[in-house]
Order: sequence, then C-alpha cells, then structure tokens
Amino acid sequence: MRALTLLGAVALLLVDQSSAFKAHDFKTCSQSGFCRRGRALSARAKEAKSSWVSPYSVDPSSVHISLDHAVFTAAVKSSLYPEINFGLEVRIQDDGVARVRMDEVGGLRKRYNEAASWALIAEPALSKTIKWTTGKKDIRAVYGDKKDIEVVVAYEPLRVTLLRNGKEQIVLNGRGLLHMEHFRNKIEPPTTTEEPEPVEGEGAEGEKVEGEAEGQAVLKVESENPRAWFEGKEEDAFWEETFLQWTDSKPKGPESLSLDITFPNHGSVYGIPQHATRIALPSTEGENPTFTDPYRLYNADVFEYLASSPVSLYGSIPLMHAHSTDSTVAVFHVVGSETWIDVSHPSDRSTETHWISESGILDTFLLPGPTAEEVFKQYARLTGTAVLPAQWSLGYHQCRWNYISSEDVRTVQKRFDEEDMPVDVFWLDIEHAADHKYFMWNEKTFPDPIEMTNDVAANGRKMVVIVDPHLKRVSDYPAYKSASELGILVKPKSGEGEYEGWCWPGSSSWTDFFNPAAWDWWKSMFKIQPGDKWSWTKSTTDIHIWNDMNEPSVFNGPEITMPKDNIHYGGWEHRDIHNINGMLFSNLTYQAVAERTDPPTRPFVLTRAFYAGSQRFGAMWTGDNLGTWEHMAVNVKMVLANGLGGLSFAGSDVGGFFGNPEPEMLVRWYQVGAFAPFFRAHAHIDTKRREPFLLEDPYKGIVKDTLRLRYTMLPIWYTAFRETTVTGMPVLRPQFIMFPKDKAGFDMDDQYYIGSTGLLVKPITEKGATQTTVHLAEDQVYYDYFNNYAHRGASKGKDITVAAALNQIPLLIRGGSILPTRERPRRASSLMKDDPFTLRVALNKAGSARGELYLDDGVTYDHTKGDFIWREFVAEKASKKGLKIESRDLGKAKPAEAVDGVALASYNPANSFAKSVEDVRVEKIVVVGLATKPTNVKIEDGKELVWEYTPGVAAGDKKGGTASVLTIKDPKTLIAKDWAIVIQ
Ligand code: GLC
Repeated sequence: MRALTLLGAVALLLVDQSSAFKAHDFKTCSQSGFCRRGRALSARAKEAKSSWVSPYSVDPSSVHISLDHAVFTAAVKSSLYPEINFGLEVRIQDDGVARVRMDEVGGLRKRYNEAASWALIAEPALSKTIKWTTGKKDIRAVYGDKKDIEVVVAYEPLRVTLLRNGKEQIVLNGRGLLHMEHFRNKIEPPTTTEEPEPVEGEGAEGEKVEGEAEGQAVLKVESENPRAWFEGKEEDAFWEETFLQWTDSKPKGPESLSLDITFPNHGSVYGIPQHATRIALPSTEGENPTFTDPYRLYNADVFEYLASSPVSLYGSIPLMHAHSTDSTVAVFHVVGSETWIDVSHPSDRSTETHWISESGILDTFLLPGPTAEEVFKQYARLTGTAVLPAQWSLGYHQCRWNYISSEDVRTVQKRFDEEDMPVDVFWLDIEHAADHKYFMWNEKTFPDPIEMTNDVAANGRKMVVIVDPHLKRVSDYPAYKSASELGILVKPKSGEGEYEGWCWPGSSSWTDFFNPAAWDWWKSMFKIQPGDKWSWTKSTTDIHIWNDMNEPSVFNGPEITMPKDNIHYGGWEHRDIHNINGMLFSNLTYQAVAERTDPPTRPFVLTRAFYAGSQRFGAMWTGDNLGTWEHMAVNVKMVLANGLGGLSFAGSDVGGFFGNPEPEMLVRWYQVGAFAPFFRAHAHIDTKRREPFLLEDPYKGIVKDTLRLRYTMLPIWYTAFRETTVTGMPVLRPQFIMFPKDKAGFDMDDQYYIGSTGLLVKPITEKGATQTTVHLAEDQVYYDYFNNYAHRGASKGKDITVAAALNQIPLLIRGGSILPTRERPRRASSLMKDDPFTLRVALNKAGSARGELYLDDGVTYDHTKGDFIWREFVAEKASKKGLKIESRDLGKAKPAEAVDGVALASYNPANSFAKSVEDVRVEKIVVVGLATKPTNVKIEDGKELVWEYTPGVAAGDKKGGTASVLTIKDPKTLIAKDWAIVIQ
C-alpha cells in the first residue's frame, strides 16, 4: 500500500467529507475477482441451460449416519478435481433446523471455519428422533411433530433440499452453482501471452480430468482445459488483485465459495441487512432487475450512501427470509468474509438466489418455519435473542458532533428543561477526547467530566461517550501503549509488527479482538475504580458507550477499511473475518461497561458495524444518512430490515446526519424517530445547531408533543422489547409478518406494527403531506390513536385515508388491543417510576380486547432472577350484557423460559420489584368502541366508579365514524395487582 504523508491523509479526509457518495471508492462485482468469477459461473450455467450439471457429487459408499441419527456425513468430489476431497455434513437440530456444512478435507490450507463460533450462542442441540432412509440416488431424513419435514441429500449431482408436506421449500445447489475453490499452489504463468482460439466442443459437461497432481492448477487456455465449461477460460484474479492504488496480495490464492439457494415456492425474500432498499428485496438478475449488481455484504464506511442501492453498508447479517402466502422459511449462511448475493424472481411464486463469498467453509442453516414466528424462534435459538435494554435507553437521545464543552452540555440540558422537553441522554462525539485519544478528555473543553456527568445524572439522565476502535499511535496514550506491549494489535500482511492506518486521530492501530488476550485488557480500560494499572478515573457509571467506525473504517485503506491480507489472531487473514470484526468490538465493550458495577448493571452500547448475533450487545443506527426525504423514507425500511435480521434495537440519525433540514423535515424526522426502537437526534460537525428547543413555533410545539408522546408510550415500547427478548420476534413488524396471507402487504415497508401491542404506524416521509393511505389487511376496526375515529377494514384488505398534517402522525390502534401508557409529562424516563398508568381498551368487532405490560427496575439484571411484573389485561363480554376488564398476573401463568433457552427465572409475585411498585395506580381507563352507553361501572363486587361516556358518531357504519369513549377517571386499582371492573 502506498504510504500517505500526514498532509496527504488530511487532504484525503477533507475531500471525503465534502463531496457526495463516491461510487468509485467501492468495488462493484465486476471489480472484485471472486464476485466476477461467481457471476461468470452463473452466466455460463444460464447459457448452458439444461445441459449444465453440477460437477459435485456425494460418494455413496462414504455415507455415514451418527449413532444418534442426527448427523449425516459423506465424502464429496468434484468431477473437475478428482484428487481434491470435500466433506459434507448435515445435522438435524431438535427444533427442525437443518445445518449443512462442507469443507475441503486434507487441503493445502485451512478454510476459515470459526464464523459460527462468534455468531452462535451455543452448539445447537441435535434431534433424537430422525429417521434416515437410504435410496440408491439419495438419502432422506424425515422428521417434525407430524413427520412433515424432509431433508433430502441427492448424490449426483449433489443437491440438498428441505421439503415440507412434500413441497420443496429450500434447495441448495439446485442450479448447480455450488463451487468451493480448493487450495492450490501458485504456478507462475508462462511468459508468452498468446492464446489460441478456443476450440468448439471442448470441455463438455461432466468430463473427468485425469492425472492432475493434488492441489495443483495450471493456467491453461480453454483448448487444453476441460474445466473451462465450469470455471471459465482463465484464472481470473486468483493470486493478486489491484483496486485503485491498493493491491491485495492474496497469499492463499482462490478460495471463494459459490452457492445457489432457491426458494421454489416463495415469491418474496427479505433480510440480509444492511442495504438501503425495500424490505422485499428487489431483483438483481433476470428480467428487468432493479439493481444490476448483487447485494453486497462487506461492512463499510460508505460516505453519503445512496438511498436506493445494493451496495454494502456498515453491517452484515447473512440471514434471508423467504415468504409466500402459505410458508415462511429462512437460510442463515454463516460466512464472515465479503459476500455478494444475487436475487431473481423467475416467477412471482419463486425466488432464486446466488451467494458468492470470498472465503470460509460452507455452513448454512435451513430454517423450516413454517411461519415467520417459527423462523424468528429458530434464528433466536441459534444467535440469541436481543438483550433487554436499559429502560432509559428507550427514551430520547440528544447527540451532535459535537457538544463542545462541559458548559455546552449543561446549557443544552438547561434549555431542554426550560422548554419542558423530555430527554434521557446527552452524547459526546469524538471531539471530547484529547487528540481523539478515547478515554482521555480534552481538559481545556471538558475540565470537569465527572461533575458534568453528575449534573446530568442529577436530573435522572445519562451520558453516552464515543469510544472508537482506532488507537492513536503515540507512546503517551496508555490505551495504545498497553495494547502494543501486549502484542494484541492487528498485524500487517507480513504477520510482524503492527498494522498502521489512518483514522480520526491520524496514524492509528487497531486492537485484534479475535485475540483472547485483548478481552480482559479491553474490559480493564473501562474500570473506573483506581486500580494498580490503568483506570478510567474520569468516568462514572452514568457514562455509557458509543462504538463507531468499527467496520473498521480506515481512511487510507482499500474501500475505506483494512487491507484484506492483514493478519489476525490464529493467523487468519482480515478477509476471513471482516464482517464479524465490528461485532467483537461492541461485544467486548458491552461486557466492559456491564462489569463496571458489582453486581453488573445493564450497559448501553451503540454500534455502527454489526453481524449476526449483534442483537446480544445493544443498539445500532443506520450511520451517516442525509437530511433528505429519500433518506428518511429508506431509513424506515432499513430499521425494519434490521429487525428482520434479529437486530431490533435500531434507529436512524433524526434530522439526517448531513445537511440542515428545513423545519418541516425536522418535525417529520422526529416523528420517524419517535416510532423507531432507538430514538436519537444527531448531526454532522458542519451543520447548524438544531436541538428541538431552537425551532420556532408551531414546529417546536409539535416536536415537544412528539417527544412527550414517546415518553407516554415507554411502557408499550418496553413491553415490546421484553417480548423480543423472549420470543425473538422483531419489535417492529412489517405487514407480511402480521398478515402472512395478505399478498398486498408483502412489499409494504412504510407502515408497521409495534410488537404485538396492536399499534400500527405509518410515519410520514414526504414533503407537504396532509393525508396518507394506510392498508388494513383484515375485517377489523382500527381506531385513530388521537381522536378515536374508527376505521373499518375488510376481509379482502382495504386502503383507508388517514389525516397526516404536520402535527398528525398516522397512528392506529388495532381493535382488540389494550395499551398501557403513562401520561404525566416528565423530564426523563427515570422520573416516571412511580407515575400512574392509563389503560386504553380498544374493543374489537366482537367487543373484546387484550394487552400486556412488562415492567422491571430497568437497570439491573434482577429481572433474570424473577424481579419484574408482567400483567395481562383482558376485556371480555361478561356473562350477561356488559364487559369485564381484568388484570391478571402473566408472570405466574407463563412458562419461565425464553426461546434461546435462557431461563427467565422462577417468578415470585411478591418479588422485590413488584413490592417497589405496589402503590402505583391505574389513574384512568378509557374504553373505546362500546356499542351502547353503560348503566353502571364498578369494581367487581365493589363500589360504583366515576365515569363519563361520549357516544360514537356513526361508528357502526362500514365506512367508520368516531367511536364511543367511556372514561373511568379513577378506577381505584393498582397496576401490579389483580382486579376486575364490570361495565354494564
Ligand atoms: C462517523 C459517524 C458519525 C460521527 C462521526 C464522528 O461519521 O457515523 O455518527 O458523528 O463519525 O465521530
């Protein structure tokens, strides 16, 4: 790599920060050797049509079934390279997931096989009930409660199929694009470059090659090369590759993995975040593809990314869902290296995909569904459910690059308080750190970090401070010095010394978190109690952490990241682990922050880069978005897609990172943020100040109402988050998950539900909107959250028009829901602890409703010991005429285990948290949609209550109308207790 002078690097930075997305900084598939090879393979297959046959086959004589019947193994050969051996393994898990693995056996080198060990929470438990039936041409496992699932391994050519009820759901290598490039020795090409004309008819399919020495390949022209029909005429970028000024030395040679995965009966696919696109992934191949490049997964710091594009962004989750009206399945392709994925839809009922990865073994989980709920459960059992966030982290976060001093922080806090605007967290970006040496404060501007944090904490708030992964290479920086002494920094391609690149602090090095020796060291960096060595004495436990630039971002590196031939622990190249790298950083930070207190408390860690499993360590955001309407709209989709990848705790920079949003846009962005799981305003250093209190009215008032709305709904959000930590279901649920049979909703990604609370929101992301259309998929009543207008759906689905002036958020309550809110305006969420609740009972067509509330102390891990309350509210027709609303103890009724096997602890209704909230009241119950005016409302077997009734207006009409509202002012009930109210 060309060394940059300091001036050069600074110039590079300036250029980078001042112009729009530079496509030329990032590779297209045609600029990436292995992607080119993968796509060329698929092009040859297409051209050959039905005469194309995969050269890979199973040797039937090698088939072996383990004693417990759960594991099938066999030898696999490629007819192209008879001397090379591959091993195939199929494991059937106890939840029906099938894991298919393949690796080269006895090869010259080892393929990276540790991706799963970082992504998975444990080695999955295997089934004990599998029956294998061996045929002449294949072997099949039949299983499932109803014996309805089959996994069939066909021998020649190799093909693995998952069927349900005899119908193909997922097919591996059905199109014959499987190719595991084996390790070989480099043969220097002959000096002459002349290439004879290709001879027609050469290289017929399936032709065997004799006499090649093991592990060797010779550069041949097609006339001599019978493998050309499959591999192409030339060795394309096998041993070295240059992109712009960077040359990748590729010391291991070609080792890419190509695999086609077909979903024969599924017309829509979702997932594989992170891309700025629709959630139902548009095609990249076939007729009229939306994108011409495949989706790329290669964690990257993409400056001013495009609002519609398959380019890779900051994180990668190789999980893809496939959906049809009668089935949802998924594949989880656990690879840590750069991966490109082509998607095409040969018909509206089927999807073909092609995955091309640079290195790594084949390790693919087939998730049989058959519903989205089951798929999420199956995925959560593999990679873990989301961590339950600290409750305060669901409040509003105020960030910018940068609050420039401790006085600045104090003033901003004061202004929020003067305007009675709630906020939970103030953030500090990189300028707080002396010369961008994290953990070290700029003492001129932040002379009193502890006092400043205490001033924030005194109001029940927290701070989040940035800690990036690059370490400034100066000897007076303890973090760099100690990491250097420990020898835990990433190494350059020589494998010796320290890799050096450029980031915010200038010349930097990066910790190798794959090295276990780095783990305790990193945790020790966060210790705030003075110890014998380093301690972050100028910190407090009210400071939480923001991990940015962890793709990693390297300003002078290829594609703004590390060279692929850098060396990590165990001798692995950076190419092998690139997409996993960022997750390890936030994982360790998460542990470090948790361990600052004894017993540990829940940390908040925000990460930009992520991988499968990152949900276990905190939140992510969509990076450096633009203050444009297109970005606002696509960020909503990206947050939804992240949830489909298991990482629900997601949000985008409110206001847009780049640019100065006009007031209307800023207001809309606050509305988007208030309905995202993670709600943070952030802005680039060059933007004008735009804290909400700076707005003029009416904008200021609208944003204040939006912030307050978020706070009133915190119990709803927290309950939805708790649900995801138990079931793996996403916090935000797009239409296809809620209504799997409603085709009209399959492509919808601008409206969504919040958990299973029954709230349906459609944030406005369009300038000048005054109304919008919301799709109702069912014959049910939906009430406007703000004015109780009752919209009527239809069994075939119906689009309704909803008012959406600037002060109106299209927010509907699905009939049949009960929502707990806390309506008293507070400055921060921690101050709401003893606030009373309001219950909104939104009756469905049948006149009933149900809802839940989960609550715990919000900060400790005592909930894992059973310290929480979990209530169920049910409104049902009472025996005679009338309605009974009951509060029940769900903690007592539900089994105490999450889907990932983590015990939820034995719940004791008299637990100490429940005690601490035993006096918390329900201050109001609002019943929406009663058919007639009640004659009396009372506590069951008790006193008559004070109530008020407003009749509905034409609410029975099919077109809708305002629903009736019964308000019980003081129902004389407690939130944590069982009670019943009877309305007659
Ligand atoms: C990156 C982050 C951005 C942050 C900036 C300075 O661009 O994505 O959020 O403000 O770095 O740290």
